[in-house]
Amino acid sequence: MSGRLKGKVALVTGGASGIGRATALQFAEEGAAVVVADLNASAGEALVSEIVHGGGRALFISVDVSDEASVQAMVNTTVESFGGLDYAFNNAGIPDGASSLLTSTQSNWDRVMAVNLEGVWHCMRAELDHMLSVSKGAIVNNSSRSGLVGIPSDGVYGAAKHAVIGLTKAAAVEFASRGVRVNAVCPGLVETALTHTRFGENLQNRAAIANPLGRMAQPQEIAQAVVWLCSDAASFVVGVALPVDGGSTAR
Ligand SMILES: NC(=O)c1ccc[n+]([C@@H]2O[C@H](COP(=O)([O-])OP(=O)(O)OC[C@H]3O[C@@H](n4cnc5c(N)ncnc54)[C@H](O)[C@@H]3O)[C@@H](O)[C@H]2O)c1
Repeated sequence: MSGRLKGKVALVTGGASGIGRATALQFAEEGAAVVVADLNASAGEALVSEIVHGGGRALFISVDVSDEASVQAMVNTTVESFGGLDYAFNNAGIPDGASSLLTSTQSNWDRVMAVNLEGVWHCMRAELDHMLSVSKGAIVNNSSRSGLVGIPSDGVYGAAKHAVIGLTKAAAVEFASRGVRVNAVCPGLVETALTHTRFGENLQNRAAIANPLGRMAQPQEIAQAVVWLCSDAASFVVGVALPVDGGSTAR
């Protein structure tokens, strides 16, 4: 452990898998106490055991980010258990169930918006309540490359991810002067359960053309950016939507 974040408390939603899991491990590696918050209790508890056996401090909290009361309870339990909340990564998300706007359904729209957009909104409000009360904190929201550009087949998902950047910027400018920095990351294609579910056997072909590097990211490559954005090394970084995408939005 580097110990750079020793004494800090970090909360990661969707922390049981993929990018969230890698970020929880990275926070723990840097010495922070970590809350892994997720719908998936078995994977979340297993990750907490792994962190604790490695000498870190961690706690699993069951949450559905689309449920405001559940999110408020998550933040309350975090503060009660670890004595505060310094960093939050609002990461929980689901893929778009439709392959085209023409075939997307109302139920697809409702669930994608409820988790990927309202979930971030619920989390930010509960986290900001605490962070503003102590005049310090950093929040990173997980948007996507789909939050920066239009991607065929990602219409509803892309609408939610664009809106996450809007929420991020509005909160960033509203609260920077009160000690809380808010930013977003915009990952390109990352090898996780989500992309395997979404693209199946087409994933490798998609990866080869996804960006100038010609490969997918590993979740740790996104985690490093998130932890950096939370840390004091990014003390003058406010309201950015940072592409971590192998150059795909640059071309
Ligand atoms: N994988 C990619 O290529 C990629 C690219 C850009 C953005 N993202 C975004 O990154 C985030 C994480 O994606 P991932 O690829 O790591 O996916 P993943 O499926 O590996 O992990 C997502 C986690 O979120 C949890 N989750 C889902 N709905 C939830 C809810 N309502 N409440 C609490 N937890 C919930 C799941 O149980 C799971 O553990 C998502 O917001 C996704 O949109 C992923």
